Amino acid sequence: MDEADAHSEAEDAADGPDAEPGDSAEGDREDNGAEAQGSRKELKRKSKAEQRAEWKAQQKAKRRKTSKTSKRPKGPPLERLPGEDVKQARLARKEAELSDFRQRAQNGTTVVLDLEWEDSMQPKELKSLIQQILYCYGANRRATHPVRLVFSGVQEGSQTHAGLSKQSGYESWEVQKLSAPYVEAFPKESLVYLTADAEATVQSFDPSKVYVIGGIVDRNRLKGRTMQKALDQGIASAQLPLAEYIEMGSYSRVLTVNHVMNMVLDHQASQDWRGVCERCVPGRKVMAEADVESAG
Ligand SMILES: C[S@@+](CC[C@H](N)C(=O)[O-])C[C@H]1O[C@@H](n2cnc3c(N)ncnc32)[C@H](O)[C@@H]1O
Repeated sequence: MDEADAHSEAEDAADGPDAEPGDSAEGDREDNGAEAQGSRKELKRKSKAEQRAEWKAQQKAKRRKTSKTSKRPKGPPLERLPGEDVKQARLARKEAELSDFRQRAQNGTTVVLDLEWEDSMQPKELKSLIQQILYCYGANRRATHPVRLVFSGVQEGSQTHAGLSKQSGYESWEVQKLSAPYVEAFPKESLVYLTADAEATVQSFDPSKVYVIGGIVDRNRLKGRTMQKALDQGIASAQLPLAEYIEMGSYSRVLTVNHVMNMVLDHQASQDWRGVCERCVPGRKVMAEADVESAG
């Protein structure tokens, strides 16, 4: 039984023609002989069963028709080698897609999601962070110019590990998962912490560098924490060039983890900060081109 059928069996049970007009005790009251009454009841029961079977068959045929026409197209038709079955062909297509993705990611820069902040967050914030990580992962998998994505500080037994493990397919996500801090995995001179509080501004993403995004959801509680961490670790830091392209007014320069990730991905593909700000920074007005030139 497919999903549509399973669903409809339940619907049939609830919405079948059992309660159609005429199906009341009223009609039976007019019969006098018990025998006649019995056989009429039997006839009625039989014809009800027939009606019901016919109705069910019609509903099923209708559903088959609509599910055939409304199904989402699944990309190009599956190419199969002679003798190859559908399952093998699907597997081969998935492997080819993965290998293409890995190759594209290899040409990109490296982005670490610094998941070493668990103790600073409240349970609700951590839950939001898991959601944002999911968005980051999905955006990277869909990107034309993906990055080499790394999660740092995800220790077994931690709440972050538990939250991520609940996500579908997490075990096989295309991510380098480090239980150790990122400083132990990469040379210090290659690290650049992306933080709204940095003095320097990032101009483009160098594939030989490792850009760190703070895995923090804090609703502005933990001001300046990532800048302080970068200073303590003696690593470089840079902010995104928001103020160069956006009328900031009273807006905060601090973006969410997934918005920052989207900006990195978009810039890798477009090399155009103005366009990146237009597409990826929600609710802020991007300056007119002439204003950007005079501001610069
Ligand atoms: C919600 S912010 C966390 C703010 C936190 N109070 C802090 O000290 O960074 C999540 C992360 O996104 C990155 N981020 C946010 N806005 C940024 C900006 N304007 N420039 C560079 N990175 C930014 C930083 O890595 C930051 O840690």
